[in-house]
Amino acid sequence: MQRVFSGIQPSGIPTLGNYLGAIRNWVPMMADHDCIYCVVDLHAITQPFDPKTLATQTREMAAALIACGVDPDRCTLFVQSHVHAHTRLAWIFNCVARIGWLNRMTQFKDKAGKDRENAGAGLYVYPNLMAADIHAYHATRVPVGEDQKQHLELANDIGEKFNHDYGVDFFPHIEPMIQGVAARVMSLRDGTKKMSKSDPSDQSRINLTDDSDTVALKIRRAKTDAEPLPSEMAGLDARPEARNLVGMLAAITGQAPADVLREHAGQGFGTFKNTLADALVAHLSPIQSEMQRLLADPAAVDAALRKGADRAAAIAEPIVTKAEELVGFLPRR
Ligand code: TYM
Repeated sequence: MQRVFSGIQPSGIPTLGNYLGAIRNWVPMMADHDCIYCVVDLHAITQPFDPKTLATQTREMAAALIACGVDPDRCTLFVQSHVHAHTRLAWIFNCVARIGWLNRMTQFKDKAGKDRENAGAGLYVYPNLMAADIHAYHATRVPVGEDQKQHLELANDIGEKFNHDYGVDFFPHIEPMIQGVAARVMSLRDGTKKMSKSDPSDQSRINLTDDSDTVALKIRRAKTDAEPLPSEMAGLDARPEARNLVGMLAAITGQAPADVLREHAGQGFGTFKNTLADALVAHLSPIQSEMQRLLADPAAVDAALRKGADRAAAIAEPIVTKAEELVGFLPRR
């Protein structure tokens, strides 16, 4: 059975982008893969965060994942900082990765902004930790959204360089699994920017916890143009906002975008937005109720995460210990 690894930062409430681009694809993989899913709190501290709320946000993210169908009894669900193998391997990878490789990471450039000298060193080596997350389990498949593709290429470069430097065939090749029309859900305010939990404008995203009225209002206010919907996909080429809304309805209803267009061609956005808002509300409300039910018993969520961390450590510990042995560290006896 192939091993799957994926992660999500507890840096806010998961958005519709996280859900459609990643989390939703994690669920069916549990049927025929050995799945390991991680709330990556070590990654979350690479950017400004509040130590008073990090633990709560971490638990809430775990509850959100479970509410979306990630079943802690059918996969390994845990918190990154609970398994120390990640940071041990990340340090080795800091020494394997080349500065030139990290300098090419577009996400670092975006997140560091103009004042790059003042960015945290953790943000810079973030992709090395991400490579360690995956390689610590010898995982071969990683379901993510489009924005993580470059990081996965780097993870493969690191694995290959390690194998080459130490003359071994130890870390396997990773196959990114970037799926479907929703691999890149865009902001509701700007169709050229991805929807993000850290965007300063709450109006730019649908949060999984938004109530029905908020979802409807955000969709109604979403930026669009004055043209009606075209009948062919080519008609969306220069209309990123329209394409985004069509993609959302397609993803949420499981249709192809071309079929959505065939059904709604000629409609103005007033009508189309109502259909989209209704579909989103119908899909998200059971997830929200389940999340609330889970968070009423935080100890139960924590207990599931503890079990997950034990299982994760049992897999990662021997792999990372072997990597340390290959590097030549004196074993602790
Ligand atoms: P994060 O927390 O930013 O996002 C979690 C997942 O959601 C996807 N995603 C999107 N997909 C479509 N449209 C969007 N607008 C959108 N925004 C986010 C992301 O691609 C991701 O799959 N570095 C990762 C977390 C991570 C990880 C890993 C992932 C750490 N270690 C190892 C895979 C394997 C991140 O920041 O994801």
